Amino acid sequence: MKRRILLTGLLAAALLWTACQQPNANQQSQHTSVDSTATGFNGEIDGKPAKLFTVENGKGVKATFTNFGARIVSLWVPDKDGKMTDVILGFNKATDYNNPEEPYYGTVVGPFGNRIAKGKFSIDGEQFTLPINNGVNTLHGGFKGVHFAVWEAEQEGKNKLRFSYTLLEKQEGFPGNITMRVTYTLTDDNALEIDYAATTDKKTVINLTNHAYFNLNGEGSGTILDHSLQIYADQYTPVDSTLIPTGALTNVKGTAFDFTRAKPIGKDIEQQVIQLAYGKGYDHNFVLRADKVDGLNHAATLIGDKSGIKLDIYTEEPGLQFYSGNFMADKVTLKNGKTDAFRTGLCLETQHFPDAPNQPTFPTTILEPGQTYTTKSIYKFGSKKLIN
Ligand code: BGC
Repeated sequence: MKRRILLTGLLAAALLWTACQQPNANQQSQHTSVDSTATGFNGEIDGKPAKLFTVENGKGVKATFTNFGARIVSLWVPDKDGKMTDVILGFNKATDYNNPEEPYYGTVVGPFGNRIAKGKFSIDGEQFTLPINNGVNTLHGGFKGVHFAVWEAEQEGKNKLRFSYTLLEKQEGFPGNITMRVTYTLTDDNALEIDYAATTDKKTVINLTNHAYFNLNGEGSGTILDHSLQIYADQYTPVDSTLIPTGALTNVKGTAFDFTRAKPIGKDIEQQVIQLAYGKGYDHNFVLRADKVDGLNHAATLIGDKSGIKLDIYTEEPGLQFYSGNFMADKVTLKNGKTDAFRTGLCLETQHFPDAPNQPTFPTTILEPGQTYTTKSIYKFGSKKLIN
């Protein structure tokens, strides 16, 4: 099992304790450079206090978050000329996220990110049934998952924010009461680090990730098809027509899925091949090369063709879901007043492989009582001069 599972009962107890604390309004607001959109986020959802939080790194890089889904709302980074650019798609109001058709903007997805075939899996011979919310499958934890939950929040200084939430067994049907903690840290070298942790009181499955939609030219600046993307993966997991992996690991070489050298996302996206037809574009898990440095796989490098903004993703996870915004449908209005037009954002979700609970050859996603699941992903920003 590639994830670090630490048998630390003490940490597990601390986690549970943190999650059980009531949010303290004073603590939550101790750091305040909340931007002008804050009013749209302060209020109550499900009878719990929702707020907008700001973190910054002292170098001008700033991000905002809502505890509704532990979501990233905005992330401002410098472009090639030093102009601050918001590279995350999202809304101006918490209520806009509170919509059953909302496609997971900036949210943590869990307890099991991506799909579980037909909403069923077994652990030690016991079968569990989940809500079906995506065709015939369960996607991103079911109808409510953790993306529509109000998480407890704790801000530590200017650059760190921690969210905690306990998903009860009876809520979505996952075994166990699962306590999750997600810590966002904005570092001095312009990286957003995401540390995930979880404990359970019954053997369960876990696969936490973040579902940020990126547009490195800035939210609302057109499609992502000319972004350059490199994925450090020689294989991907092909899917069936319902986007469940077939179980095979297929070499990307010579296919539209070959991102081993940087190429524009749009270069091969219209190829008439069955895998791209199933995904309506890219919506696939890539098997990251396991040549970890300091415990992290270099997952991908993405560059905005207009801004020169460069994003490097590093992760402990074995997989990366590349979703090219194929279901974006011009239906909702985003922060800057533009709509969510087709492929104007993309997701790069660090993860264990989809449907792992039903696929014995995939790295396991089992979490047992007494263990603490921890995993880290880093989104590091830089910029690059563009050659025209
Ligand atoms: C999935 C897509 C899904 C999207 C929803 C992605 O993680 O892979 O199939 O449509 O989330 O926004």
